[in-house]
Amino acid sequence: MAIFDYAPAPESVRPAIRERYGLFIDGNWVAPSGGRYFETVNPADETHLSQVAYASAADVDRAVRAARKGYEKYWRRMKPADRAKYLYRIARAVTERGRELAVLETLDGGKPIKESRDFDIPTAAAHFFYYAGWADKLEWAMRAGRVPDPIGVSGQIVPWNFPLLMAAWKIAPALACGNTVVLKPAETTPLTALALAQIVREADLPPGVINVLTGDGATGAALVEHAGVDKIAFTGSTEVGKAIARSLAGTDKRLTLELGGKAAHIVFADAPMDQAIEGVINGIYFNQGHVCCAGSRLLVEERVHDEVIVRLTERLQTLRLGDPLDKNTDIGAINSKAQLEKIHELVRSGVEAGATLVQQQCVLPSRGFYFPASFFTNVHPSHRIAREEIFGPVLSVLTFRTPDEAVEKANNTPYGLSAGIWTDKGSKNMWVAQQLRAGVVWCNTFNQFDPSSPFGGYRESGFGREGGVHGLYEYLAK
Ligand code: NAI
Ligand code: MG
Repeated sequence: MAIFDYAPAPESVRPAIRERYGLFIDGNWVAPSGGRYFETVNPADETHLSQVAYASAADVDRAVRAARKGYEKYWRRMKPADRAKYLYRIARAVTERGRELAVLETLDGGKPIKESRDFDIPTAAAHFFYYAGWADKLEWAMRAGRVPDPIGVSGQIVPWNFPLLMAAWKIAPALACGNTVVLKPAETTPLTALALAQIVREADLPPGVINVLTGDGATGAALVEHAGVDKIAFTGSTEVGKAIARSLAGTDKRLTLELGGKAAHIVFADAPMDQAIEGVINGIYFNQGHVCCAGSRLLVEERVHDEVIVRLTERLQTLRLGDPLDKNTDIGAINSKAQLEKIHELVRSGVEAGATLVQQQCVLPSRGFYFPASFFTNVHPSHRIAREEIFGPVLSVLTFRTPDEAVEKANNTPYGLSAGIWTDKGSKNMWVAQQLRAGVVWCNTFNQFDPSSPFGGYRESGFGREGGVHGLYEYLAK
């Protein structure tokens, strides 16, 4: 197949990045108590972007107190319709600064600009718009028909794969319900959370309603353990999620966990094949596979296996890997060196176990962290690449013969976040969807998100729902 060369189409906007960022506590930028800062880099070329403050346990304490004061003094007392106005203000500011925020997200995290521009930032704004609309209608969200109480101070810890979007998922419902927030972004992607803090300041929110603490796992752990926090919302690895659950056991803190996944993406022989191939490609290579709900286990009906492999192999070669700021780029940079090493390690285990590796043929940029779009055939269900979350652009292909076998293999995982089904038969779609133990099941599509639709997992993928009316329940007193 002929491959066209594309002229570069680099995004030209460059957002202002400060040399150094403080912590955002009680409506102000403040220096970290320990005087420590750490660097955030651009994973696309390993260049320095900025220094951000390292929040110690003392800073966590300051932020939680500020959030408590913001809660008691302003936010819980405010008329719900007024809370909505602030949320609308944030939503509009995120939209107005969409281009700048998209570039910032791409610079700091490595994802293609077309994704941050067309998905991350608009979807983040959509969550603020959506939950703004709920703020003065909460009695209609509850079956009891009374105005429910908020919980209090919420500690929110987010990962690096969708930095601003995960912050919006967590902040918007919390605030709509009358809670205040201490947000901790991931260490490699703090910049859009800090830009959001600046938006919050300019939107004139009462002090302490949203606080942003940059730091690492120890900062997150201090937030989890702080006695003044009423609820923890965490998105990240299953390992850390389990540690948080252990640390909160026996306390009356509320907890929601959105953890990893190893989603089954099922393609039946009667599937609309052109669309299914695109769905599979999007399902695994979107955001370099740094997606908790990625369709990372492809289950193909045996009699179309060879055809599917030929088509996937062809399609791989047309993906463009490179500069994330280029508007033509499909596969950007891996978020960090550590994540790249994890991908290499799991891919090595697949090769050693005897699976066959197929990769996109391309020249990787000489600087930065990159991994070519890849998939494995001849995968056994017991292989690590079929069981563990790789969190990179690597798909594992398995086969099945009957719908029952597809369901059995799909559910053979400790996770249960998402799944996908491709078939021309509506009844088969519905039957299989009902059998799958996954929070979200996409039928003849994949990776569709809307703020009105709840999202969350079964088993080791966590518990609690984000998005939709269900997302409100997690921020309201029972
Ligand atoms: P991680 O779970 O360590 O990091 C996520 C967030 O939790 C970050 O903000 C981090 O600072 C914070 N954190 C770390 N340790 C903590 C602790 N003990 N208490 C409280 N907060 C803590 O994830 P990491 O190490 O960046 O990635 C490792 C693997 O986790 C990835 O390879 C991937 O498989 C999975 N992962 C899944 C995500 C998802 O969306 N479900 C997101 C990020 C990673
Ligand atoms: Mg970075």
